[in-house]
Amino acid sequence: MSVRVVVGAQWGDEAKGKIVDLFAQQSQYVVRYAGGSNAGHTVCTNGKTYKFHLIPSGILHPDTLAVIGDGVVMDLRSFQTETEVLRQQGVSLQNLRIGLGVHLTMPYHRQLDELAEAKIEGRIGTTKRGIGPTYADKADRIGLRVADLLDRQRFETRLRRVLERRNPVLQRVYEAPAIDADALTEEFALYAEQIRPYATDVPHLLMSSLERGEPILLEGAQGTLLDLDYGTYPYVTSSHPVSAGACLGTGIAPNRITEIWGVAKAYTTRVGEGPFPTELNDETGDRIRNRGREYGTTTGRARRVGWLDLVALRYSARLNGFTALAITLLDVLSGFPTLKVCTAYRYCGETTVRFVSDGYALDECEPLYTELPGWQEEITDCRQLEALPVNAQAYLRFIEQYVGVPIRLISVGPNREQTIWV
Ligand code: IMP
Repeated sequence: MSVRVVVGAQWGDEAKGKIVDLFAQQSQYVVRYAGGSNAGHTVCTNGKTYKFHLIPSGILHPDTLAVIGDGVVMDLRSFQTETEVLRQQGVSLQNLRIGLGVHLTMPYHRQLDELAEAKIEGRIGTTKRGIGPTYADKADRIGLRVADLLDRQRFETRLRRVLERRNPVLQRVYEAPAIDADALTEEFALYAEQIRPYATDVPHLLMSSLERGEPILLEGAQGTLLDLDYGTYPYVTSSHPVSAGACLGTGIAPNRITEIWGVAKAYTTRVGEGPFPTELNDETGDRIRNRGREYGTTTGRARRVGWLDLVALRYSARLNGFTALAITLLDVLSGFPTLKVCTAYRYCGETTVRFVSDGYALDECEPLYTELPGWQEEITDCRQLEALPVNAQAYLRFIEQYVGVPIRLISVGPNREQTIWV
């Protein structure tokens, strides 16, 4: 029996979609545990590219159940668009399950997110998908869940109560029109019928599956450094991408987890505002961005790019309890004479190897680098560790030794087969 968690080890966009897809074939269930349609996972297989925002990429495997766990928040309008595109690509949704406790990202959440980003100082650079306001309502106990949606009367009553609190904010703070409860109730009554066949008690489903000893894969979204508590607050998302979030978001107990895979790029990227000590605002950064096609799946924004930050990666490894590392996009680093990796920070006049997670304090940290020799060869056709240039092997060994976690997978291209298992 295995319960594997796949966690983003940096600021998101670590190519988790590919790693999840590789493990999905050995799993009975692939369960998404956090975030919402702010995520974007790309899977390239058999000459086709699939883009996922909400639906677990496990849906591509006919024998795997793709489950949206209760820690996820779901925008039903964007769910319609996503399912439509997948259907057109010939993907069946028959194996989809959606938790009854999943919170709904409502149109007013999206609106509030957009308005706050546009009008309030100190923007976070969110994806404007309504994620923060949805989780805020969840904590405020006025969120609407899938279970509410399935009972029209209950949904309407609760929606009216929420709007009594949210409409004055829209009108008075942002001078925006109030939301019409009747129109929203009608629209969501249609979604209710589309969702009903998939709605499931997820903790119960997974507990029964654990009793049968079936393999489960828990799929994270975003990355550790965007965690609400342990990321670079306030420049974070509103959920828990870390491995502990996998338990909260699915109902699986911590002692049932058997493997925790951290997925990290061979360099670092970040989207949105916030500190990024190793950021490169120069030609080297542009070159990595272009080679790595570093533009957001969800928003199309150009990602900020920088050298690998090992101080941050080791923090991430300890926080999550990684049992294995997957290093992705190694191929992007071909062609540089030397590569830098950040091995310490200069902070308040001292040198430290401790990660500073406070968003404002991290902004004060200056990265201290170790330089490693690069390699010139293209490596996208390598399928074994020994086939990689010796300097690429040394780069990986350096990461492994600094972080203290074995690298068990290396990705050298977007396709399934462009993978080295170690
Ligand atoms: P939110 O999750 O839309 O509220 O955005 C909060 C922060 O998380 C912003 O900096 C976003 O750019 C970042 N973020 C959210 N989702 C992703 C993702 O999937 N990849 C990378 N960054 C993300």
